[in-house]
Amino acid sequence: MTDKKQLSKIICMYKLLFVCLGNICRSPAAENIMNHLIDRHQLSDRVVCDSAGTGGYHVGSPPDRRMTFAAANRLGIQLCGRARQLQKSDLVEFDLILAMDRENYYDILALDFSGKYRDKVHLMCDFCTAHTIKEVPDPYYGGAEGFNQVIDLLLDACNGLLDRVKQEIVDSEQ
Ligand code: 4NP
Repeated sequence: MTDKKQLSKIICMYKLLFVCLGNICRSPAAENIMNHLIDRHQLSDRVVCDSAGTGGYHVGSPPDRRMTFAAANRLGIQLCGRARQLQKSDLVEFDLILAMDRENYYDILALDFSGKYRDKVHLMCDFCTAHTIKEVPDPYYGGAEGFNQVIDLLLDACNGLLDRVKQEIVDSEQ
């Protein structure tokens, strides 16, 4: 491998996008939990995370206070970021796009007319190893238990996702 080729592989970042409806509860929690794991595994120079909502109602808002409380209380993680709406260009830009529920999944695919990016889009819970639930439930209209459940599911899924990303990085280096 030439030095130039080696260099381009070194600086090539693996890009993850977490998507929910409002981008104030589930997807910012996923983004921040994943960043926490990435830091712990010293992969910050290889993997970047972002999050977005399929809806635009909360654009510019910080993460929901109840989600912030659950993340701090359960994992000691501080949630940061501001909500933004998913756009078509995200399908091109990101390597893996993680939908929190099936509605999010189909709303993401609706932006992909050609089906070209279909394989990038996955349900977040497909990466869970300890939980069997298929979707991350929307906690917005429920109580504190729903937010705690979201944190537990996301931690499980993020650990599974980290294994997948590590494998992708190893494969890309061969
Ligand atoms: P999220 O939760 O999709 O996990 O950010 C929601 C946030 C806001 C609303 C619904 C779900 N809402 O209806 O405003």
